[in-house]
Amino acid sequence: KKTILTGIKPTGQIHLGNYIGAIKPALQLAKQKEFSPAYFVADYHGLTKFHQADEFRHLSYGIAATWLALGLVPEETIFYRQSDVPEVFELNWILACFASKGLMNRAHAYKAMVDNNEKMERNADFGVNMGIYTYPILMAADILMLKTEVVPVGKDQIQHVEIARDIAESFNHVYGDAFVLPEYLVQEEVAVLPGLDGRKMSKSYNNTIPLFEEPKKLQKLINKIQTDSLPPEAPKDPESSIIFTLYQQFASTVEVEQMRAQYLSGISWGEAKKELFIVMNRFLEEPRENYKELIASPERLNEILLEGAQKARTISAPFLKEIKEKIGFSV
Ligand code: TYM
Repeated sequence: KKTILTGIKPTGQIHLGNYIGAIKPALQLAKQKEFSPAYFVADYHGLTKFHQADEFRHLSYGIAATWLALGLVPEETIFYRQSDVPEVFELNWILACFASKGLMNRAHAYKAMVDNNEKMERNADFGVNMGIYTYPILMAADILMLKTEVVPVGKDQIQHVEIARDIAESFNHVYGDAFVLPEYLVQEEVAVLPGLDGRKMSKSYNNTIPLFEEPKKLQKLINKIQTDSLPPEAPKDPESSIIFTLYQQFASTVEVEQMRAQYLSGISWGEAKKELFIVMNRFLEEPRENYKELIASPERLNEILLEGAQKARTISAPFLKEIKEKIGFSV
């Protein structure tokens, strides 16, 4: 079976970009028999950007509850918290010794952070710490530790998966085929889901639509999505509209075709938004209720995550031993 793995940072509420870019494809793949899924809360990655302890704990459970609310089956998944699998950090160091500094300098996420910092002279929120700089190495450790073949992610993470591959190749070049080379899997139609303001939907831009927002607020947020100023009766291009893109994610094939025809013959943005809300809310109603129940019992979530970490360690502990032997450590 092919291992598929993906992680989410607990640095904010899960939004539609996370759902459509990573969770939805990951859950679809998990249903296929040829895959063995591993999904985790990337709390150590989150620490690079978030330093409020109580909120952090709550957000970590929030990510776990989101996956479960949307149908993740813990018995059929390796579902864990990154910080509960210590082998990942040992591997992180080993991999750091195979990652060139130049490779890290080229990482987009780090470069964007530096640019931002320079623009604002001093980052109001957060400076560039070493965690941000070495972020791709830890991500490589996540991926390589569980012998991952496929990584479902949004477009912003493609480079990180490529870096993981590069690091694995550098290691394999010296010691033979130790690591499986991972591939990313990106949903082309929604590689980057735009947010309310048209920029990439992101916790950092404050332009998100949280997945489990209450219906009234959800409707308000949908109404805030920026649109062009075409008159109501003018034909609209469905392919270039985020409202249509979102509609496609939540509606049936028949509904999508009917909506496409309405766009082409002219629908007002107000009407298009109303229709979007209806299909979104129809889908989200049940998971939203599940989520509320789950998040109310953190002890239960903790148990599930700890059991998942045990499963991950049945792979990571012996594999790390093999790696240590290869590099000449006595184990
Ligand atoms: P994070 O928490 O920033 O994002 C989680 C996932 O959501 C996707 N995503 C989007 N997809 C489409 N459109 C958007 N607007 C959008 N915003 C976010 C991200 O691409 C991502 O897939 N580095 C990872 C966490 C991580 C990880 C890993 C992922 C740590 N180790 C190993 C895969 C494998 C991250 O920043 O996630």
